[in-house]
Amino acid sequence: MKIALIGYGKMGKEIEKIAIERGHDVLFKFDVANSDDFTISNLKKVDVAIEFTQPSSAYKNYLKCFEANIPVVSGTTGWLNDLLNVKSHCENNKQTFFYASNFSLGVNLFFKLNKKLAKLMNKVEGYDALILETHHTEKKDAPSGTAITLAEGLIENFRKKNNWVKENAVNDKELVIRSYREDKVPGLHTIKYESDVDYIEITHSAKSRKGFALGAVLAAEFSQNHSGFLTMDDLLDF
Ligand SMILES: NC(=O)c1ccc[n+]([C@@H]2O[C@H](COP(=O)([O-])OP(=O)(O)OC[C@H]3O[C@@H](n4cnc5c(N)ncnc54)[C@H](O)[C@@H]3O)[C@@H](O)[C@H]2O)c1
Repeated sequence: MKIALIGYGKMGKEIEKIAIERGHDVLFKFDVANSDDFTISNLKKVDVAIEFTQPSSAYKNYLKCFEANIPVVSGTTGWLNDLLNVKSHCENNKQTFFYASNFSLGVNLFFKLNKKLAKLMNKVEGYDALILETHHTEKKDAPSGTAITLAEGLIENFRKKNNWVKENAVNDKELVIRSYREDKVPGLHTIKYESDVDYIEITHSAKSRKGFALGAVLAAEFSQNHSGFLTMDDLLDF
């Protein structure tokens, strides 16, 4: 596969290593310093673009890839206000877009576990739920995209919660997500249920960015023979 990386920061560099290990060619590494090279004609030279930039530029980058008619894999978080527009490009203009708030295979198992646990928690009285996430201090958005996906999975399945809020709840129906920023943490997420007598907690802790990078390259490979709006549920047959 010929790959263009859009965003050559921490994730872009990690993805490059895994892509090369898996026998792919990284033709372009677009970033702000070489933005003049980020053209439709260059994009047309690759089989897929992998985009890890920042919330404010992600959607514009996707539009450029759609114009070049190439599949896009994106892990940038914090752009979901444009989700319906992206889905409409896939449906109406036959574009291919693969998004995951978290490309780690372990986190995607954790998403399933979260939903199962939330469903089970309906069977007992007296538990309240909380989500905690910790990331490195350079992370631009809070809560993390992964924490939001976890919150959505919990709310879908746990009757006592019907929306999530940052930090402070005004009533019991609100699920609180607490965000912490600490040096060098690649990603730590905990779902915590508390009653008067005990706690039940499940945690996923990423050791490095390698797991996210591998998932993104697998998604790029998957995008070569699948089309439309794709997610990890399409890639992983859990
Ligand atoms: N989905 C996942 O599995 C996953 C995992 C880790 C990080 N992320 C997300 O991916 C994004 C990037 O993370 P990172 O850790 O690599 O950040 P980073 O800050 O290290 O790298 C981002 C890079 O994008 C570049 N950039 C910014 N605007 C650009 C533009 N318009 N065009 C081209 N390049 C541009 C920056 O100069 C920088 O080099 C963040 O939104 C982060 O939350 C997602």
